[in-house]
Amino acid sequence: MVDNKAFMIKSGWMLGLFSLIGIGLVSLTHSFTHQQIAENERLFVLKNLHELVPNALHDNDLLADTLHVSDAKAFGKQQDVTLYRATKNGQLVALIAAPTAPDGYNGSIKLLVAIKENGELIGVRAVAHHETPGLGDAIDTNKSGWVYAFNGRSLSDPDVKHWRVKRDGGDFDQFTGATITPRAVVKMVLKTLQYYQANQDKLAKTHG
Ligand SMILES: Cc1cc2nc3c(=O)[nH]c(=O)nc-3n(C[C@H](O)[C@H](O)[C@H](O)COP(=O)(O)O)c2cc1C
Repeated sequence: MVDNKAFMIKSGWMLGLFSLIGIGLVSLTHSFTHQQIAENERLFVLKNLHELVPNALHDNDLLADTLHVSDAKAFGKQQDVTLYRATKNGQLVALIAAPTAPDGYNGSIKLLVAIKENGELIGVRAVAHHETPGLGDAIDTNKSGWVYAFNGRSLSDPDVKHWRVKRDGGDFDQFTGATITPRAVVKMVLKTLQYYQANQDKLAKTHG
């Protein structure tokens, strides 16, 4: 009887101990994975920044010359948008904005929108999203060339009322069976161009 009780107590302690070890391992793995995802995302943003605005175009450190703006009116939703300024001999040559389109099919889509000093788009990249493989993920350059359709466009090409997907009467292709994702991206690229146009003088003068 005494032996039985001692055995039950010991088993209880062992069970508790193993549960604690299990919980610890799961949270460690979670924390490590989380950090790894954040680091991968940071590296991917860097790679895309340099792809959009190569070193030959500027002579400053893009990562050191950033601004953070929070302009709910411009970007449609309260969000902190990082702006990377590319300058040559102190003059702004390009601005890369990192807005988030809030209305993808599966949530937010983080973008990089690179704009030449004259308001013309250098290019757009989707750097983080959860869009459905085979449907909305065609915004990825490794899945399709859809984002390249933004290259060289501006607020006058096409005119603002055609800054929509074709299904909505605009100039930009949607994907087969997936209009929500491209619609969200086109909308945010337009907002970013409009933000740049409205703040161009201020952004050209701001240093660091
Ligand atoms: C499981 C599932 C996943 C989907 N994923 C996406 C997506 O990532 N992006 C998207 O735009 N539409 C996605 N759709 C389709 C949308 O529900 C919607 O039908 C479509 O975007 C509307 O485009 P359409 O008018 O061209 O059909 C998905 C639908 C289903 C059933």
